[in-house]
Amino acid sequence: DTSINIGLCGFGTVGQGVWKHLEQNRAELAARLGAPLRIAAIAVRDPQRKRAVKLPPKLLREDPLEIATAPDIPIVCELMGGTDLAHRVTLAALRAGKIVVSANKALICEHGAEIFATARKHGGHFFFEASVAGGIPIIKALREGLVANRFPQIYGILNGTCNYILTQMEERDAPYAEILSEAKAMGYAEADESLDVGGWDAAHKAAVLAWLAHGLWVPPSRMIVEGIERVTPADFKNAATLGYSIKLLAIITRDFASNEVSVKVHPALLPDHDVIASVNGVYNAISVTGDVVGTTLYIGKGAGQDATASAVISDIADAVALLRSGKCVHLNSEVAPLPAEQASAGKSGE
Ligand code: NAP
Ligand code: HSE
Repeated sequence: DTSINIGLCGFGTVGQGVWKHLEQNRAELAARLGAPLRIAAIAVRDPQRKRAVKLPPKLLREDPLEIATAPDIPIVCELMGGTDLAHRVTLAALRAGKIVVSANKALICEHGAEIFATARKHGGHFFFEASVAGGIPIIKALREGLVANRFPQIYGILNGTCNYILTQMEERDAPYAEILSEAKAMGYAEADESLDVGGWDAAHKAAVLAWLAHGLWVPPSRMIVEGIERVTPADFKNAATLGYSIKLLAIITRDFASNEVSVKVHPALLPDHDVIASVNGVYNAISVTGDVVGTTLYIGKGAGQDATASAVISDIADAVALLRSGKCVHLNSEVAPLPAEQASAGKSGE
């Protein structure tokens, strides 16, 4: 059997999306990656709970650490959220030389330096495309497509829940609480939605982008962070009169003369002619200015099951390529290596 085993820690909005799309595009993915993928184990808080997706009971685990350390699972997807158990699971998997795929920006923001050091030390690997801007491949854009650049400015909409709420407040006269419940029901919001509306989730993502762009960790405590709780329907009316929209922006700037990096998250007025002003609903948008390329713009769904699953699966694909290139040390990996002529095209990374 040449299947590559994947463990899912978490089977909520994102985990179920990954399951659904790995199943739906199974044949195409197997052909593209050169090996079939198999979800070998799934950890949830409550394995007895009835779920919309019927899972074979033998797949379910109550302890995600069991998946993190299982010798026959080289790829571990941490899709639980939080920064405690998720931290332990991530480190345990990396210490076992595994590849961890994560959507957890809060975890990366808080423990990124330790996570990457652990991956390096033990020959594991950490992929995190889904942690910023949902389905937009912004991590790859910064690390790969724009590698030639230094970045004086990166700014944009990094939180789908807030953009959904602001758009709905602008378009219809509904109470804030009602719109927030809709965002939760659609699977956009964090388990603790104060992370979204307080601006903290966007700050976590901005920290990840600042690290990629500038190589330093800026904790949210060192940023200006303001959420959308104080934005009122009257603010939209006044902004519209002046030809502006209101968006929650994350703004990362670097002054190369003084070498200062600034990271801010706050509601901002954007003139209607700015493309980002017309990015609505759960969509995110990121403007990246590089000193070599000029300004590039990325728009796409920033939250929700399908868009996020797309990003997680792209990391799984990179993980498979890494395993097959033989560059990951996972000792018990039974993954067939790439044929010799393809091996030099294998990816290296963090
Ligand atoms: P979710 O719907 O709340 O799902 C969390 C899953 O983790 C559930 O299956 C839950 O088990 C499981 N879990 C939680 N604590 C656990 C524990 N102690 N032991 C075992 N399993 C545990 O969350 P989500 O929206 O999928 O988000 C997951 C991660 O993706 C978070 O880091 C989030 O920030 C990130 N993310 C989310 C989105 C999005 O649009 N939702 C987008 C990008 C990134 P039960 O099913 O038994 O409750
Ligand atoms: N709660 C987050 C958002 C999920 O609304 O953007 C995507 O990271």
